[in-house]
Amino acid sequence: MSATEHATGPHTIDYVGRRARLAEQLDAVGCDAIVIDHPVHVRWLTGFTGSNGAVLVNADGSAMVSTDGRYTTQIGVQAPELELHVSRTCAVELAGRASAAGVGRLGFEAAHVSVAAMRRIGAALDSDGRTELVETADLVEKLRAVKDDAELDALREVAAIAVKAFEDLVASGAIAAGTTERAIAADLEHRMRLGGADGIAFDTIVASGPNSAKPHAGAEDRVLCDGDLITIDFGASKNGYHSDKTRTLVVGGSEAADDFAREIYSTVLRAQLAGIEAARPGTPLADVDRACREVIVAAGHGEYFVHSTGHGIGLDVHEAPFASSRSQETLATGMTLTIEPGIYVPGFGGVRIEDTVIVTDGEPEIITPLPKTV
Ligand code: GLY
Ligand code: MN
Ligand code: MN
Repeated sequence: MSATEHATGPHTIDYVGRRARLAEQLDAVGCDAIVIDHPVHVRWLTGFTGSNGAVLVNADGSAMVSTDGRYTTQIGVQAPELELHVSRTCAVELAGRASAAGVGRLGFEAAHVSVAAMRRIGAALDSDGRTELVETADLVEKLRAVKDDAELDALREVAAIAVKAFEDLVASGAIAAGTTERAIAADLEHRMRLGGADGIAFDTIVASGPNSAKPHAGAEDRVLCDGDLITIDFGASKNGYHSDKTRTLVVGGSEAADDFAREIYSTVLRAQLAGIEAARPGTPLADVDRACREVIVAAGHGEYFVHSTGHGIGLDVHEAPFASSRSQETLATGMTLTIEPGIYVPGFGGVRIEDTVIVTDGEPEIITPLPKTV
């Protein structure tokens, strides 16, 4: 397998191009090179998937990597084009090499390097003081926010695995009075695994009755009763990519729902459809949040929509861009975004509906196409 053959679909990943795009940013942030050891970023920049590694990217786009003895064979397959330096302290090794080679301004990712690790990197620099460490923020995160075709292939695939598992779960009749939240979560996770997932994207949420008023409940031993709202928030992982979606159902079917449950369900659904409609290139993310929020506020439930509207998804479950009232960014073609408004009424229950969309030049592409009837 060559460095460009990790994709699951027809497209290949251009790691050289990714590093070149990072290199183009360096001068503007006052760096001549950057050392990166955040595993997700090392993977995105090189294809290397081991747990300990680092990459040094220079302003001319050239790069070298480091990993320890456990992964030397693997990195030789995944990133054969890159010069390798074997070390257990990968970022320290590459920072020392950069400094010895005369790099003056060496960037590091402030959000991903501990104070202790930064000190170790500092101690590896040449003692003549000509290399200065420079904090950077969000360089790779911003590049990762716009997905390339190979990533979109992977995201569609991992979303489809979870969608199929949920459809089969519903068709099996397993979501019924008498069973537990925990049993439903285990059943759904088992189906995703059998359907091709490497694992789950995050701890599956199955929140029934009053538990559904907690946006990030777990899956407990509570026994389902007819008429309960039940919120199921779930996703699969495959080849490093993640999926994320939520459906809220009523145990026993829609006839079992009381009027207030129906009212909040239809409000959340209108809000979610408004959010999807707003997910277009050029739209400020704050406006996507507003599109959802104003539907819920107008219905008199604004105090119960207690989180932001959504997030990008890719190699991380939660990644740029973020849709909240505080967002400063604007959507662009190729970004992913979850749209997940909710209403959570303490002591009663809650409703959340979540889809993941890909922002396109036309209609948003919903990659989690499950029914949204209560
Ligand atoms: N499952 C976590 C989220 O929806 O963001
Ligand atoms: Mn979710
Ligand atoms: Mn989400």
